[in-house]
This record gives sequence, C-alpha cells and structure tokens, in this order.
Amino acid sequence: MSFPIVRLRRLRRSPALRRLVAETTLTVNDLIYPLFVCEGQGVRQDVGSMPGVSRLSIDTLVRECREVAELGIAGVILFGIPDEKDALGHGAYDPKGIIARAVRAIKKEVRDLLVICDVCLCEYTDHGHCGVLDKKRVHNDATLELLAKAAVVYAQAGADMVAPSDMMDGRVIEIREALDEAGLEELPIMSYAAKYCSAFYGPFREAADSAPSFGDRQTYQMDPANAIEALREVMLDVEEGADIVMVKPAMPYLDIIHRVRQEFDLPVAAYQVSGEFAMIKAAAANGWVDHDRMMMESLVGIKRAGADIIITYFAKDAARLLAGGR
Ligand code: PBG
Repeated sequence: MSFPIVRLRRLRRSPALRRLVAETTLTVNDLIYPLFVCEGQGVRQDVGSMPGVSRLSIDTLVRECREVAELGIAGVILFGIPDEKDALGHGAYDPKGIIARAVRAIKKEVRDLLVICDVCLCEYTDHGHCGVLDKKRVHNDATLELLAKAAVVYAQAGADMVAPSDMMDGRVIEIREALDEAGLEELPIMSYAAKYCSAFYGPFREAADSAPSFGDRQTYQMDPANAIEALREVMLDVEEGADIVMVKPAMPYLDIIHRVRQEFDLPVAAYQVSGEFAMIKAAAANGWVDHDRMMMESLVGIKRAGADIIITYFAKDAARLLAGGR
C-alpha cells in the first residue's frame, strides 16, 4: 500500500499522537550524572570548558547529590581529584582517600541514589597515565592489582557499583576476584568495555587534571577506526564477569552501541563524554543552536541506538525538562 492510502503525517498531527507512537522514551531512571570531587571545604570550582560542571569538595558534593536524587536521577559516578599524586597513584586505593571519604559521606546523607565509582589511576598518577609505568610503557599486569585494590576500597566504603575505565587487559576478572575474596560477590561491575582513544575527552582532562604528561593513550584505549575489535573487548569483559558494558564516547560511536546491543544480552551503557557536552554548550552559548532541543535529541539518539543507560553531564538539565513534561 502506498500514497494516497498511506499518509505517515496522520500520526504526527498532535503532541499526544506523537507521544503515543514514540518508539524511544528517555527517563531519569536511565541517567547517571558524573561528579568531580576535590579536597577542601565549601569548594565549587567551575570547569571552564564544561559550563555548569564544577569540582566539588565533599560537603558541597553531598548537597549536590541530594539535589540529583530529588530530580529522580538514577545515580552518580564519582571521579576523584587528590591533592597529591605519585607514580603509583596511591590516592586511588587509599582507604582514607578522596573517593572513599566521598562515598561514605554521600551514603550517610542521601537515600535512593546509586553511587558508582570510576576505577582508574590517571587522576592519581603524577604522569597522568591510567596505569603504572615500566620506563615509558604502561605496565598492564602491574596495574591490575592496584585497580582491584581501589575497587575493593570503594565497595567497602559503600559504593553501589564500580566502573573500571583504565582499559588494561584482564582488569574485570582481577576486580571480580578481589571483590569476591572480600565478601563483595554481589557488587556489580560496569566495565568501560569499548573505550576509544578520543579527542572528545579533552574537557574532562581539564576537570580532572588527568592529561598524560607525555605520550597519549593509544597503546591501551581503542582505535576509533575499529568496530569488530569493540565486540571482542565487550565479549572478553562479559566472560570476565562484567554486569554492564559501556561504550564511550557515545555520539561518534552510535554504530558500536547498536552492535553491542544487538549481540549481547546484558545492559549496555553509553557515556556522552565531556567533549560532546562542551560542543553543544558552546554552540548554544553562541546562539547557533537550541540548547534544550539539541540536548534531548542527542540523548534520545543514544537511547535509540541501543543504550539502556546514559552517563551524561546533561543529567540535571534533562531531568528538569523531563519533569516539565517535555
Ligand atoms: C579515566 C576516564 C576518562 C574519562 C572517564 N574516565 C578520561 C580519559 O580516559 O582520558 C573521560 C570522560 C569524559 O570525557 O567525560 N580514565
């Protein structure tokens, strides 16, 4: 059947009809909000390249988390900015470190909010790489036990989930075994399974002060040219015990999100990263695009591609719009 019997415009006539036939819906239950935690009291230090995003001290962070929970957002993912960095990234797995203290403080004060901890060394090493060094190389196997230590510290502090983002081979099984040994066999792991070596992380590295001091991350993060390899990364993480797998960044990798969703039967997360956020904010600030519409279109697009969960700096903006019925 075809025109004039078929007219697709019939179902686009009114907002109610369009809502009725919408194939993809975005809700606050899908969203995770990233937060940066630093030392100090009463700190709210803006990140220049990420309008509306700040580095927060623990007291301010707790207040922020209360607001995030009230908006109905599912959870937060925490990134720590320690005062002191060293070659082995001790701050990452110190039981008195910034993240462990932040988790305890949030868990004491805020109900109904998932607290997820990013597990990586790059914010804690003085060289800014995601693992420990052997001369100028990032040493895979020597990094694993430190990542596992960090995961256990965060879980013992009360985290609801850990999310390794380092891209070392074998970190998921190492973390799984360490958690199990510590009696934390029910703590889920969300692995950054297909994490690309991306220029879109630029603003994050300003926020977290984690740019590598030499070289780049091409020997551990994925080549943007590869898709089959992403499926292999995901498969290995699933075999190692990942409970949720993530694709990162989101918008330049919608094909990867789609393929992972089609081929695997566990929840898929997508990280709309700092550069994706900054691009939309900057264009909107110039009056070149409509901020709210572009934000919602980018989020719905990521869901439509197949993501069940979206980690996004837009979580609060989007939650407010969704609450207003848009
Ligand atoms: C840590 C990590 C990074 C991001 C999340 N975890 C930075 C990186 O790999 O350089 C980036 C997030 C963003 O850009 O929003 N390894």
